[in-house]
Amino acid sequence: MLPEFYQFQNRTKVIYGQGLALDFTHELEELGTNKFFIVSDRIIEKLGLVKQVKDALLSGGIEITGEFFDVPQDASITCVKEISRLATETKAKGLIALGGGSVIDAAKGANFTFTLGGDLIEDYSGAATLTQPLNPLVVIPTTAGTGSECTLAAIIYDVENKTKLAFSDQFLLPNLAVLDPVMTRSMPPGLTASTGMDALTHAVEAYVGIDSSPHTDALSVAAIEHIFNNIVRATENGDDLEARGSMLIGANLAGIAFSHSMCGCVHGMAHAIGGLARVPHGIANAIFLSHGMEYNFEQVKEKFARLAPVMGEDISGLSIDNAAQKAIFAVKKLTARLNRLDALPLRLRDVGVSEDQLLKIAKAAVEDGTSIYNPREVVAEEILVHIKNAY
Ligand SMILES: [Fe+2]
Repeated sequence: MLPEFYQFQNRTKVIYGQGLALDFTHELEELGTNKFFIVSDRIIEKLGLVKQVKDALLSGGIEITGEFFDVPQDASITCVKEISRLATETKAKGLIALGGGSVIDAAKGANFTFTLGGDLIEDYSGAATLTQPLNPLVVIPTTAGTGSECTLAAIIYDVENKTKLAFSDQFLLPNLAVLDPVMTRSMPPGLTASTGMDALTHAVEAYVGIDSSPHTDALSVAAIEHIFNNIVRATENGDDLEARGSMLIGANLAGIAFSHSMCGCVHGMAHAIGGLARVPHGIANAIFLSHGMEYNFEQVKEKFARLAPVMGEDISGLSIDNAAQKAIFAVKKLTARLNRLDALPLRLRDVGVSEDQLLKIAKAAVEDGTSIYNPREVVAEEILVHIKNAY
């Protein structure tokens, strides 16, 4: 059945190619400036990736006004303010973010005050606070997970209050996303697997969420196919640039999908253990994905049945129920395989979550902003059963 109404828009230009991160200067001409400030983190800098990209930009006539490498694991308010201050002080006219989700979100967050001045929290918290475009933002992802290079959201950590602040706006969408698998080559197996499972979770949740549409369905299915066919290959052999490329594309498609139809209870539970036990986001999603699918089973089993063959399962002759179960089975099989490669933990007890925290996780999942998009109402006592299964 078609939705009564939906809309779809993606303002970000996406370019893909092996080695493209060192050869995209000509793409910056249409952004109206050649003065850029670079945002990255210490790991990416130490790997030498920042220098490679910067040298290529300089030789292409781009002026780099300054750099900031101190983005922490979760982009913090302090670092966002510092990026904005330095970019303004050095008279940059645009930002280039080179890194994973935190680096990208830090650059997105900084772009509010870098472009318009004011106070990040007081003036721009929440959704749709902007009425005009921000300064040009170019993003080169070094992980294949968040899809943040094509989403309208930025998550910034409020260290003082131990909460994650969500900013979302059409104008936060980057102008240009440069997808180059070479930039993701140095990700270790654990990070490859966990960020890839985050992307898979985006695709599955966007596919079954209450705001899904034919457009997001198409993107989600394509994303799931790319990720399922390549996550093990990319984890086993980081130099497999075909697999790395497919993971980047899969994560990007999933990002565009969930930017429109949002995530659901798996992310709700993952956010909860991210806050309570500091479990990294991708690992948290990997642990909860099959359990969240079980929670939503009755509401979206027709959709799960359609996903099973995309996940490589044979459903010929099966009932809808049995075909849908195959999709959950495929996810469990995949996480078990990644676990055997020592790339993923499987259970909550393995990541520092204690049994007495399970009810808290259930309650936090209900309160999480994602619960309103989940196909089944998120009720603490009911989802607790599945959280216990994940323990
Ligand atoms: Fe996520």
